Amino acid sequence: MAAQSAVNSSRVVNIEDLRSLAQRRVPKAVFDYLDGGAEAELTLSENCRAFCDVLFRPRSAVAIGNCDLRTRVLGNEISFPAMLAPVGYSRLMHPGGEVAAARAAGEAGTGYILSTISGHKLEDVKAGSSGPVFYQLYLLGGREAAEGSLDRARHAGFAGLVITVDTPVAGLRERDPRNGMKELLGTSWLAKIPYLPNLLAHPGWLTSFLLDGGVPKLENVVIPGKGALELVDVGAALARATVTWEDLRWIREIWPGPIVVKGLLTGDDAKRAVDEGASAVVVSNHGGRQLDSVFPTLRALPEVVAAVNGQVEVLMDGGIRRGSDIVKALCLGARAVLVGRAYAYGLAAGGYAGVVRALQILRADVERTMRLLGCPCISGLDRSYIEVPHAWSNHGRNDAVRA
Ligand SMILES: Cc1cc2nc3c(=O)[nH]c(=O)nc-3n(C[C@H](O)[C@H](O)[C@H](O)COP(=O)(O)O)c2cc1C
Repeated sequence: MAAQSAVNSSRVVNIEDLRSLAQRRVPKAVFDYLDGGAEAELTLSENCRAFCDVLFRPRSAVAIGNCDLRTRVLGNEISFPAMLAPVGYSRLMHPGGEVAAARAAGEAGTGYILSTISGHKLEDVKAGSSGPVFYQLYLLGGREAAEGSLDRARHAGFAGLVITVDTPVAGLRERDPRNGMKELLGTSWLAKIPYLPNLLAHPGWLTSFLLDGGVPKLENVVIPGKGALELVDVGAALARATVTWEDLRWIREIWPGPIVVKGLLTGDDAKRAVDEGASAVVVSNHGGRQLDSVFPTLRALPEVVAAVNGQVEVLMDGGIRRGSDIVKALCLGARAVLVGRAYAYGLAAGGYAGVVRALQILRADVERTMRLLGCPCISGLDRSYIEVPHAWSNHGRNDAVRA
C-alpha cells in the first residue's frame, strides 16, 4: 500500500523519480540487475545520451484539437506508440511481475511482450491483459521445450512471436557477480550469507518475495521429463541456445502468426530478417546489456529504416526515458518503440500501480511534445520535425514508412 501511494505521489513527475523509488524499495542485487548494463556500460549510457543529439524543429502557432496518439503494430491498434519490452526476472522485482505489467499495458491500451525468462505462466499473463500480448522466445531448454511453449502461446491467443537474436551468450553485467546474484538465486544458504544483510535491509520487498514463494521457476520453459527450468540455470542454458537464421526457418514452420526479430543494429541484418520472413524488426542492443560499445539504437535506426524500405515495420528500443524520446524515434522512422527499464522501474517501485504510473507519464509526455511540436497525429511525424547531427549518415526521409 505504501509503495502504491509513493508511485502516485505528485512528486513523481518523471521516470527518474520512479527509478529512485525502485532503488529504495528493492535490494541492491535486484535493482542493479534491472538498472545495469554490460561491461563498462558505455552503450547503456549512450543509448540515453543519443537522444540529446537530436533537436526538435517545432511549428509554432498551430492549434491542435484532438491529438491522435494511436498507431498500429502488426495489425493491432495501440493507444500510444510505446509497448512494453520483454524484461526477464520481473517477478523478482515485484510478485505481480509479468501479470501486473501486462495488465497495466492493456489498461493503457497498448501491448506487452512476455519474456521467456518469466515467473508467471504465459496463460495467466495473457488472461490478465486486455491488450495484445506477444511472446519473446529464447531457445532455453532446446527445441522441444520451445515447441511446448509455442503451442501454449498459440492456444492462449498470443498476438505474435518476438525472437531475440542478440543473446548468443549473456553479456557480462559486472554489477551482478559483485552483488552475489547467482548465489542469491541458488540453493546454498551458506553461499547466500554474505549477501543477506542487504536483503534484510529491505523488509517490505523481502516479505512479499517470501510470501510469493521465493525464487520463481521459469514456468514457460518446461523441459520434457524434467519440468520447469530453474532461474539460476538461465545463464548456462542461454549459452547453449544461440538462435540462428536456421532456427528462424524452423520457427516459421511451427508458428503461424507474425514473427518479430529483435536485436538488430545494421541494415544488412535487417534485410536478412525480412528475407527470412519477419513481419517486423526491433532495432535493439538489449538496453546495453549485451555487447558493449555498439551503436546506440537511435543512431542505428535510420540505417535499418532505409534498408528495409517500408517492407516491414521497424520498432526500436533502448534508452527511452521520456515521451520526447519516443517522438524522436518516430521522427526517424520507427513505427513504435518498446520501453524496458522505464516501466520496470515502476514495477519494482510499486507493482501494477507503478507500471500504470510509468505509462501515464510517458503518454502525457508524448501528447505534450506533439502539441508543442505543432503535430496533430503520430502518422504526421517525420524528419522535418528534427535535426540530426551531420555525422549521422543520412539515409533520406522516412516519411513513407508509416504511411
Ligand atoms: C532487467 C532487464 C531484463 C531484460 N530481459 C530481456 C529478456 O528476457 N528478453 C529480451 O529479449 N530482452 C530483455 N531485455 C531487453 C529489453 O527487452 C529491451 O531491449 C531493453 O530494456 C530496452 O532498453 P531500455 O531498458 O533502455 O528501455 C531486458 C532488459 C532489462 C532492463
